[in-house]
Amino acid sequence: MSEVVFRAKGLKKYFPLRRSMKEILTLKPRRYVKAVDGVDFDIKVGEVFCLVGESGCGKTTTGRLITRLLEPTGGLMLYKPTRETLEKVSPKYVDKDGYVNLTSKLPKRIDKMLRQEIQIIFQDPFGSLDPRMTVYSILKEPLIVHNIGDSEEERREIIYRALSEVKLTPPEQFINRYPHMLSGGQRQRVAFARAMILRPTLVVTDEPVSMLDVSIRAEILQLMLDMQAGRNLSYVFITHDLAVANYLCTRIAVMYLGKIVELGTADQVINNPQHPYTKALIAAVPEPDPKNRFKVRELPITGEVPSAAEIPPGCRFHPRCPYAMDICRREEPPLLEVEPGHYVACWLHAKH
Ligand SMILES: Nc1ncnc2c1ncn2[C@@H]1O[C@H](COP(=O)(O)OP(=O)(O)OP(=O)(O)O)[C@@H](O)[C@H]1O
Ligand code: SF4
Ligand SMILES: [Mg+2]
Repeated sequence: MSEVVFRAKGLKKYFPLRRSMKEILTLKPRRYVKAVDGVDFDIKVGEVFCLVGESGCGKTTTGRLITRLLEPTGGLMLYKPTRETLEKVSPKYVDKDGYVNLTSKLPKRIDKMLRQEIQIIFQDPFGSLDPRMTVYSILKEPLIVHNIGDSEEERREIIYRALSEVKLTPPEQFINRYPHMLSGGQRQRVAFARAMILRPTLVVTDEPVSMLDVSIRAEILQLMLDMQAGRNLSYVFITHDLAVANYLCTRIAVMYLGKIVELGTADQVINNPQHPYTKALIAAVPEPDPKNRFKVRELPITGEVPSAAEIPPGCRFHPRCPYAMDICRREEPPLLEVEPGHYVACWLHAKH
């Protein structure tokens, strides 16, 4: 079985809603947006693990939890550091299988080493790159923060290598440019270089091509895959586009209102979807793939996604599900394995 680099167990993130003065005075309990509401998944070494789902289902929040830009409200996140890092971590922070609990209190030094190994790339490279910094300083900053390179020459060499790797060549042509002097694709390449310069083992990419011109999307996706060569690099790829997920991903987790409703290999989820929501998502893909990979045809669901502050009881998909039964309105379906490696949370697939 492939080795697991990251494991989430019952992971939750609730955002408190602001209360009105009336709600405070009448002692109404605080309400929460349940952006991520108890998800379990494993990310395997070297895979592209995809999170798909409609807007607001909790993909970005999950990505931010993994990279610890957000503190979870509950649950566990276990991470297996590289052997090099493990040698520097006191055994009391490491479990018998070599995992560090990222949700526990860790000493600053260890925390920093682990943060270096888990990076994120955002959707909008313009927003994520400081417009006042040159490409050289953008790439130098993480090296300084993480004490990489003993001299300016060494750092320059690392920066040049990182630029070559993302095909911004010759590097001399790019180092003195500011983000506004780059095309969208080139800016995203700089964002990749900035993440990769730290030699991460796990990279979360949040809709990394959705703001780019269609003509250059494939190049950036190919670059992502090329960067895995010779490295033990795993990706979490966040997208709302199933066609892209199918092209790129090893496994796909389908999210709906903060929960994973289906999880399996790309082939299982795309060619043999079992959850009514996944089937609807696939049916909603406008153009079938030329190789006819999207075989399932069913009427897309109607209605809007309910608010994450008012999650329906039972199966949270029931108000939109054409197969909803009594139990669906009362009890939440468990995520069960329906064939090896293929999990579905739906009462149509569980004993009740
Ligand atoms: N900082 C925050 N404060 C309050 N609510 C938030 C915050 N961040 C996200 N949310 C809410 O959490 C839910 C999940 O948001 P998230 O950004 O994770 O969704 P998403 O799947 O990435 O959507 P999209 O496809 O539009 O990017 C949404 O209801 C969103 O409004
Ligand atoms: S559990 Fe019920 S409501 Fe939910 S997806 Fe399955 S059939 Fe539909
Ligand atoms: Mg998002």
